[in-house]
Formats: sequence, C-alpha cells, structure tokens
Amino acid sequence: MVNLITLGIESTAHTFGVGIVKGNKILANVKKSYTTESGGIIPMQAAKHHERYYKQVISDALKEAKLDIKNIDLISYSHGPGLGPCLRVGLLATKELHEEFKIPFIGVNHCVAHLEVGKAVTKAKNPVLLYASGANTQVIAFEGGKYRVFGETLDQGTGNFLDAFGRYIGLGFPGGPKISKLAEKSNNFISLPYSVKGMDVSFTGLLTKLKQLYDSKEYKVEDLCYSLQETAFAMLLEVSERAMAHCDKNELLLGGGVACNTRLKKMSEIMCSERDGKCFIPDNSLLVDNGAMIGITGAKFYNPNKKYKLEIRPYERTDDVEIK
Ligand code: ATP
Ligand code: FE2
Repeated sequence: MVNLITLGIESTAHTFGVGIVKGNKILANVKKSYTTESGGIIPMQAAKHHERYYKQVISDALKEAKLDIKNIDLISYSHGPGLGPCLRVGLLATKELHEEFKIPFIGVNHCVAHLEVGKAVTKAKNPVLLYASGANTQVIAFEGGKYRVFGETLDQGTGNFLDAFGRYIGLGFPGGPKISKLAEKSNNFISLPYSVKGMDVSFTGLLTKLKQLYDSKEYKVEDLCYSLQETAFAMLLEVSERAMAHCDKNELLLGGGVACNTRLKKMSEIMCSERDGKCFIPDNSLLVDNGAMIGITGAKFYNPNKKYKLEIRPYERTDDVEIK
C-alpha cells in the first residue's frame, strides 16, 4: 500500500520524530531530540521530553508537508526495539490520532526501518545493511524469506563506544563527530585490539586499551582517534563483507548515526569497489533515527484486511519480524 499518505512516528530512544511520506517520497521529516550534558540517557526523562513535544512535532510535520491531519491515510509507529517509556509516547500519539480521526495504524520494527528507508531512497535492491548507531550495531539482510542478523556487537553499540571514549578524554557528548574531526588530523596508526569473533564484534577490550594508552600520555590524542576509527570500522566492514559473501549479495547499505562518519563511508566504498560491489549511503538525515523511515516501512507492510494491535515490543529482535 505504498501510495498511502503515511505519518510515521519514531520514539524508540532519545529522538521523537515524525515523517510524512507518500510512496517513497518524503513530504516532511521533523524531529526533536532529548539531549543531556553527560550523554547517559535516562529513559523516564527522555519519555517526559517526548510527552512534552509530540503534539508540536506532529503539527510541525503536517505544516512542512502542507497537509491536514484529515489527509493522512495511515499512521505507522515504531513498536520496538527500544526503551519502554519512550515507546509508550509513540503509542499514545498513535492511539490519540486513531481514536480522534479514525486513522488506521501499524507498528513496525525500528531496525528493519533503517533497512527499508535505505532501499526506498537509494537504488539498492537487495542489500546487506550495516546498521551502526548509538545503542545498536547489527549486520542485517533479508534472506530466505525473513530479515536476519548476520553479525552484531556482543557488548555495546559502536556509537556508545565512541561516545564513551569521547567522554573519557573530555570531548563531551556526542563524542563520535568530535573523534572524527581529531582523526582527520592524523595518519599515524597505533596497533589496537581487533575484536571480531565469528560474525560478531566487541568493543569493550578496545575501549579499555584506548583509555590505558590515553592515561599513559605517550600518545597524541589525534593518533588515538585515528587508530580507533581505522580499527573499529575495519571490524564492522570485515563482518559486513563476510555477510555479503555468504548471502551472495553485492550491495552494502549504511544506516545509523555512526554512518554519518566520513571515514566509515569512505572505507565502505573501498571495500565494495574491491569486490565489484556497490555501496549505498542515504542522506545523513535518514541515517539517524527519524519518522520518515517508520512511515516508509509501515506503508510497505500495511494490509487493510489485517487487524493490528496497539502495543509496544521493547525487545523485538530483527529475526522475529513477521513477513506477510
Ligand atoms: P538507536 O536507538 O538506533 O541506537 P541512537 O539514537 O542511539 O539510535 P543515532 O541517532 O542513530 O543513535 O546515532 C547517534 C550516534 O551516532 C552517537 O553515538 C554519535 O556519536 C554517533 N555519530 C554521529 N555522527 C557521527 C560521526 N560523524 N562519526 C561517528 N559517530 C557519529
Ligand atoms: Fe536507530
């Protein structure tokens, strides 16, 4: 039902986003994010933030799309995975619009939405997705009739790892973009623990080592940031490349806030070109959490004959997503 005018609501974590889409065309994509000085997200506070702003974000998105709520055919909301209190605000907004304006709704999986938006806005047809955000790091592909996770982090997400090191060396939050700037000033590689286990990656050992090297004061912070990026991103791309080989796919798609990183984009392009593959990278505004990706995914899967339940699924795994 891709031609429905769909209002997508994202509220899995610190972003409350509303996108309005028609087919693969994005008519509006507005968001408001909860931020903290120190970076740690307190779920109840993020939820309070979303409660405070959700009506405003919805009305701003309608204004941007030059539409009235009565023009909306479908509401799509992210039902998980994510933080329960935050997800509940997206659910509340959906329930209110459904009850007041009788608009049908569908809930979608957040990780699958990162994949679907990339397919909708790039020429990727059947890609392997490298999804690297704050909390999540997964290599996902649609294979054998369902979405499968081919590899993932065994501990923290890539973004949380970057932000943890950034905080440790006094860069504030989020650390990812600042580490990227510092890394650009170096090309002096320091060998660091490289942790790929089977198809999975792990960042804890790398973080501990980086903190030790920083404390020793023997290394320039630019060199540490450069080596961190080269090591961590090589780990992500090793697993992505192996997933591509395993599934016999030649397309790589990037998603998640960490994919805004210019060096990761470059390394992804190099890996793909070396294996005669193609690398697809959506605009940064669609890499980070946003409502348009939820709208596009809901419109794709919506079936008017099916009865949907208003519910959240905070722990839903990518592999558990039902395919009609
Ligand atoms: P999710 O709930 O999907 O895990 P999130 O809200 O934790 O999402 P995103 O909004 O997708 O994450 O991304 C935020 C992360 O991206 C932060 O950890 C931030 O440091 C990182 N990031 C943003 N820009 C860059 C960059 N240029 N280089 C590296 N990391 C970046
Ligand atoms: Fe995300």
